[in-house]
Amino acid sequence: MGRGVTEAAILFFFHCISSPVTGDGSGEGYVRPLPRQTLSLPWRPKRSSDPQQVHISLAGAEHMRITWITGDASSPSIVEYGTLPGMYTSSSRGECASYKYLLYSSGKINHVVIGPLQSNTVYFYRCGGQGPEFQLKTPPSQFPIAFAVVGDLGQTGWTKSTLEHINQCKYDVHLLPGDLSYADYQQHLWDSFGALVQPLASTRPWMVTEGNHEKESILFFKSGFQAYNARWKMPYEESGSTSNLYYSFEVAGVHIIMLGSYTDYDVNSDQYAWLKDDLTGVDRERTPWLIVLSHVPWYNSNSAHQGEGKSMMAAMESLLYAAGVDIFIAGHVHAYERTTRVHNGGFDPCGLMHITIGDGGNREGLAQRFYNPKPEWSVFREASFGHGELKIVNSTHAFWSWHKNDDDESVKSDEVWINSLASIGCVR
Ligand SMILES: [Fe+2]
Repeated sequence: MGRGVTEAAILFFFHCISSPVTGDGSGEGYVRPLPRQTLSLPWRPKRSSDPQQVHISLAGAEHMRITWITGDASSPSIVEYGTLPGMYTSSSRGECASYKYLLYSSGKINHVVIGPLQSNTVYFYRCGGQGPEFQLKTPPSQFPIAFAVVGDLGQTGWTKSTLEHINQCKYDVHLLPGDLSYADYQQHLWDSFGALVQPLASTRPWMVTEGNHEKESILFFKSGFQAYNARWKMPYEESGSTSNLYYSFEVAGVHIIMLGSYTDYDVNSDQYAWLKDDLTGVDRERTPWLIVLSHVPWYNSNSAHQGEGKSMMAAMESLLYAAGVDIFIAGHVHAYERTTRVHNGGFDPCGLMHITIGDGGNREGLAQRFYNPKPEWSVFREASFGHGELKIVNSTHAFWSWHKNDDDESVKSDEVWINSLASIGCVR
């Protein structure tokens, strides 16, 4: 799992460059913080077979997928678990994978699905039959449920600050709309990212979708998303999808769809056909709330990445609108923005509320240049690092808040109560 000597030289040719960020901040006299450096995270496992980079994700009703990496290929893909510390009354076996990327060879990546699990319950678990004990809490089976939301996370000093703030809030499931590690071809940065997020991601399910920084494609050589798909396996099979790049899941009365901005989405694509089927299967009695996440925003008044979501929006907006999707959450733009309910370019009482939250703390810094005048559909916008919290209180009401880092203090800067579309007669 070591880094290659010539890796940096190779990466120079393939490194993907995002839009430069320049200009003044929007409004108020707050001095915008500068980007922080990528953290130096030495990663020295005690024994090569010890579990590393442990993270968990929802894997169908009452099940959880445990993912970890070891340097020892003979270490078994087994998880032992139970509701008391050290008392493992159940165990599951799973699958493993590894991959090579230029001069890099990954460790053994293990994926084990455990369950059926009780809802809202703490479980203690051990990976690979040895090493430290971890613990997780399963989400509730009914309202209320809380989500932590952060996009474009990266692994800088600001990332650390954001993760500390998320750790302070009570939440059940973490939602991440793309751009995780910012490894950008440097595979050892996937390992350091896995180590950085383990304290949070081993205790609550992290549900992610891919961003442009996950692609890591090389013309004629690598088609893309190799590391992402190997390391961050999501429940696509469980939701009838044929690709890890888009899937859905249900938790406590919420149906959540993770779309892929970087795979085909036109009306003839597999993703479109899957989305149509998935939306048809949504039962608003069982899941009154319907939420979609994708990396590239559709409604965004920042000059960064302006218009990049246009073609996906043209293909899919009417489908989501007809299905009564409540909220659309995106990342990509390194700033925060919340819209009113919109459809087809303007206010619509039965439209989607769009939230852009690509401000987790990546190394590229903030996108500070907003278009003026502010479009009528834009309610709140600000360039700051931070995270969001979505508390679904019951079948009719949810509370959304955005917390900016503000020089390392978590400061709640935007909040709104949201009525579910099903409760106001918008879902037919
Ligand atoms: Fe992005």
